[in-house]
Amino acid sequence: MSPIRSTRRVVLTASFVAAGLALALTIAPFDSPASAAGKRVAHSVCEAQELKALQAEDPHLEIEIPSEFDTPWPTLSACRTYTGAQDPEAPGPEQPIPFSHKHHAGEYQIECLYCHSGTDRSQAAGVPSVETCMGCHSLFPASYDREFEGIRDLKQYWENQEPIPWQQIHRLPEYVQFRHNRHIRAGFECQECHGPVEELDKLYMTPDTKWWPWLLPTAKLEMGWCVQCHRENGASQDCLMCHY
Ligand code: HEC
Ligand code: HEC
Ligand code: HEC
Ligand code: HEC
Ligand code: HEC
Repeated sequence: MSPIRSTRRVVLTASFVAAGLALALTIAPFDSPASAAGKRVAHSVCEAQELKALQAEDPHLEIEIPSEFDTPWPTLSACRTYTGAQDPEAPGPEQPIPFSHKHHAGEYQIECLYCHSGTDRSQAAGVPSVETCMGCHSLFPASYDREFEGIRDLKQYWENQEPIPWQQIHRLPEYVQFRHNRHIRAGFECQECHGPVEELDKLYMTPDTKWWPWLLPTAKLEMGWCVQCHRENGASQDCLMCHY
């Protein structure tokens, strides 16, 4: 796909998401049912979303949603992925903000290159700037700030003009040369090397094993992993191409 076309699509996607959100906000209901005993009461927007989902399954369930929590935003899905992204049981490092790829890249289909814009142009992929996050999140209603500590933290980084200290997951030793742009231009999808990123709330280095012809395994980011793919695709295995 041409970079120009993909950029345009990304901008369209992003403004579509923002426009949809703005529209939905203007029609958000703000009335709430009166309180009564025996009902399950929500104490946050996310609890309200869970209760609404339970009631949709069981119409007899009585719930009470105080008006300050009766808003469609954040959605149930945002609430759940926010929790998933900081699940201590899930593999991968704990990140400074519980950011979900499943939510952004999966459900909302924001393209990888919208955030990792260096990937097709420069050597390093890089993580997005705080400005990229704020391009969308500065448009969101205050209910997000109240609900998610991560969004308050995001705005704090923005105010202090500090980068978010994301924990790095993939890292080759200094003496190895790897360029994203060459691999992207050769036609590989991100998932070929990084796995189903758009299905993960919390990122980690997904397992990927390549096999030597004599059936010995080699794991992701090891030399054999690179060389095996080069063999299969007729790319060079010259030592000096990867080492200098
Ligand atoms: C193109 C628009 C866009 C960009 C860019 C963006 N977001 Fe989001 N973000 C969203 C939308 C849409 C939601 C979910 C709204 C909903 O469903 O309630 C969301 C939800 C979230 C949530 C709650 C769910 C979760 O993933 O944990 C966090 C936290 C978050 N974003 C952080 C970030 C950070 C940090 C960045 C920058 C690295 C970022 N976002 C960039 C659109 C964006
Ligand atoms: C051929 C395999 C391969 C493909 C395809 C690939 N990557 Fe990577 N990626 C790597 C390797 C190897 C590293 C570690 C690079 C290093 O340490 O220098 C990495 C590192 C990264 C990093 C962390 C780097 C940083 O600067 O912190 C991000 C983000 C990333 N890739 C995103 C992507 C995205 C987005 C795509 C698709 C557009 C993609 N990658 C496609 C192999 C690949
Ligand atoms: C809304 C912005 C956004 C989008 C869209 C996005 N990413 Fe990311 N990506 C991030 C952020 C922020 C991090 C660092 C936090 C983390 O690891 O979760 C990251 C980290 C990564 C890493 C790990 C980097 C490392 O340290 O090794 C990979 C790999 C990656 N993304 C690939 C992808 C792929 C593939 C897609 C598309 C399917 C994608 N990303 C879409 C924001 C985004
Ligand atoms: C999914 C398959 C695949 C994997 C995995 C892979 N490569 Fe490649 N690589 C290729 C192909 C195909 C080419 C040839 C691209 C071309 O001719 O434009 C290539 C080209 C290269 C080049 C030469 C182009 C340039 O950047 O100057 C280097 C260096 C390189 N790869 C390093 C690595 C390293 C290091 C790793 C492991 C961390 C790796 N590759 C993993 C498929 C792969
Ligand atoms: C396609 C890229 C690629 C090619 C070609 C390649 N290497 Fe490597 N090499 C790597 C990567 C990635 C690592 C680091 C990961 C690891 O330790 O397995 C590495 C690590 C090494 C190490 C350090 C191993 C250690 O355990 O510390 C040596 C020595 C080495 N390579 C020698 C060579 C020689 C000799 C050749 C040519 C026959 C060669 N490499 C060809 C990618 C490559």
